[in-house]
Amino acid sequence: MNRFTSLAAGVCLVALSIGAAQAQPNRAEVIHWWTSGGESAALQELASAYKAAGGTWVDNAIAGGEPARATAINRMVGGNPSTAAQFNTSQQFIDVVKGGLLNNVDEVAKKNDWDRILPTPILNSIKVDGHFYAVPVNIHMSGWFFYSKAAFAKAGIKGEPQNIDEFFAALDKLKAAGITPVAFGGQPWQEKLVFDALLAHVGGADLFLKVYQGDAKALSSPAFKNVVSSFKRLKNYVDPGSPNRNWNDATSLVINGKAGLQIMGDWAKGEFQAAKQTAGKEFGCFPGFGPKSPYIVAGDVFVFPKTSDAAQIKAQQLLATTITSPTTQVAFNSRKGSIPIRTDVDAKSMDICAQAGLQIMKDKARQLPNPEMLVSPDVGGALQDVVTTYWNTSQSADEAIKAFSAAVKG
Ligand code: GAL
Repeated sequence: MNRFTSLAAGVCLVALSIGAAQAQPNRAEVIHWWTSGGESAALQELASAYKAAGGTWVDNAIAGGEPARATAINRMVGGNPSTAAQFNTSQQFIDVVKGGLLNNVDEVAKKNDWDRILPTPILNSIKVDGHFYAVPVNIHMSGWFFYSKAAFAKAGIKGEPQNIDEFFAALDKLKAAGITPVAFGGQPWQEKLVFDALLAHVGGADLFLKVYQGDAKALSSPAFKNVVSSFKRLKNYVDPGSPNRNWNDATSLVINGKAGLQIMGDWAKGEFQAAKQTAGKEFGCFPGFGPKSPYIVAGDVFVFPKTSDAAQIKAQQLLATTITSPTTQVAFNSRKGSIPIRTDVDAKSMDICAQAGLQIMKDKARQLPNPEMLVSPDVGGALQDVVTTYWNTSQSADEAIKAFSAAVKG
């Protein structure tokens, strides 16, 4: 190629890239794992809001949290990052912060007064060394109970269980009525989620925190053994199809009245909504046992991989601003099953479960950091291995406690 043709080729390339930029203003490729019916419906609210703000949403959905996060990190390390990537409100993205692989969003955070409007557990998760490295999208609570009103009626269960004894009594009634008591997804992350829900709801917030601090007295206490034994007792109430079942397929069993209840994060609500069911009508929800149960604060964030490309930085800031705006927060969370990250929004249109969650979040004493805020991804993975081994083998509670105690100390 002589210098004229190479010049012409260069001009064409520049023209093409300008054209592409004009065709896709504020292009944002977003890696996430929201692939279920409810999740996809909620995601559309984010994509539509971003488009309305003048952005171009390029969707990169990868099924499963772990594969999606691994893809995002590999793309960052490989020098070909997406514009944004979903993580949980947790320590999952600390390593990429420390590795200098993320842009901070301080400018957007300061302009929107995040220090004032965001709950403490979320602020503690997204701020590192005083800088904001993640944009919170929602507040999920990972330990809700969702139940089929028809199944409860058929089993003669009058009210929502107020403690673990009433809970197992209700499961016995469901079993006697020929209904699968617990809709269960036998995947390690779901087994760990259910374990943590019982640790919070049966053990209480104080035990929960002490266990995750590796407190020897707490780990060897009868209270913790009661939690561990109660978890394994659930095995008597799940169906043979539960191994490796996806969480949303378990939710479908409750939606169809084939199972009595599911212990799951409130992202499950998005599936009930996608099936046109209404909280308080076809299904019920309770966030634990009794009026003071702990509220495990979890949820999702988007992180913004490091880039010096001015257009990408502009897209990242537009995305951060759009996601956290009051209107988008209500529209997205209403479909996602979560509650908004900010309290200065009009949430009257949200369902009764969300209203309960919003009310509880006003009581800071009930806010409980989720386990992935308390331990590193490596320790979290080791604990997940301990729980899934205990659930899937004949290991005793004492052996499981010994393994858990060793793993939580890192
Ligand atoms: C959680 C996430 C939720 C939902 C769930 C199931 O980690 O916070 O938004 O996606 O996984 O996929």
